[in-house]
Amino acid sequence: MNELDSLVKQAKQLFAACSSPAELENAKAQFLGKAGHLTMLMKGLSSLDIEAKKAQGALINAAKQTIEQALNDCRQQLAQAELQAQLKAETFDVSLPSQAMSQGGLHPVSLSLERIEQIFTSMGFDVAQGPEIETDWFNFTALNTPEDHPARSMHDTFYVEGGYLLRTHTSPMQIRHAMAHVQTYRDRLDAGQTMPEIRVIAPGRTYRVDSDATHSPMFHQCEGLWIGENISFKDLKVVFTDFCHAFFENDHLVLRFRPSFFPFTEPSAEIDIQFPDGPLAGRWLEVAGSGQVHPNVIRNMGLDPERFMGFAFGMGPDRLTMLRYGVNDLRLFFDGDIRFLSQFQ
Ligand code: DAH
Repeated sequence: MNELDSLVKQAKQLFAACSSPAELENAKAQFLGKAGHLTMLMKGLSSLDIEAKKAQGALINAAKQTIEQALNDCRQQLAQAELQAQLKAETFDVSLPSQAMSQGGLHPVSLSLERIEQIFTSMGFDVAQGPEIETDWFNFTALNTPEDHPARSMHDTFYVEGGYLLRTHTSPMQIRHAMAHVQTYRDRLDAGQTMPEIRVIAPGRTYRVDSDATHSPMFHQCEGLWIGENISFKDLKVVFTDFCHAFFENDHLVLRFRPSFFPFTEPSAEIDIQFPDGPLAGRWLEVAGSGQVHPNVIRNMGLDPERFMGFAFGMGPDRLTMLRYGVNDLRLFFDGDIRFLSQFQ
């Protein structure tokens, strides 16, 4: 075997014995590097005459190509082996159960608000939203509760700079919605056309200085208002009774309209309900304030009280949610405890 053949053989053996790419690159240097065997042989050509140079040069080049080919083959093999090892190390069992993904859901009070909206829209009511930061006029004065009226003392609230306050109830929405409605109607009025009725609910957050198991400084209310030319207390009884039957999915629920006082209604009533059976049976439970809208309030809406009349009510969706699900502490709704909240999903 001549020198070149034995170099090729040596290189092939050495490459094949390498177990990593780095080792292979070192082995390559012994043959093809600057001081490698083949490089040295090439350098030695200069001492030969021209014919011998050509012949020997061709042989060295052929040997070099064979070695380069062997090198590339080994490089590929090592890369393959490395990939296989990696795939093997990273295999995972697709049949294992996945990590539990927690899914969010609606808050129980939001569920009640959705339910309330759905029941009232099915009865032809609009749904209106209004500001939580309110003016004194909308929150009190327009609702027939002037400054120094004793009823204001039950509505202590948080005052904001500039004469604003956090609304203590959703009742200001009666005035806001009616005023907007009357304005829209006036803009479109042709001679002889009568004004469409105002039939609206206004759910939202309200605020008072109050905090215990049944009161929270922030709570929800839902206002209701129906104004037309002949809307009376009788309509209030029908609408609110139908609502309670639908909300609690119980047509045997009994309602009581208990005389009361609110400055913005005359006459006024608290609405109590009684379940025919279940853990709450036999007790009267207060769910709303209500009444025939006071003429002064009708006037503040921009309407003539001699012509327009109607009823209003204000209920507490937090309390309705407690009754529906049997929750006995209001604070549970606002603590954000997932163990409590997840029960409603
Ligand atoms: N706004 C009253 C409150 O928060 C509840 C209320 C009573 C609303 C009578 C009404 C109503 O619309 O007619 O105590």
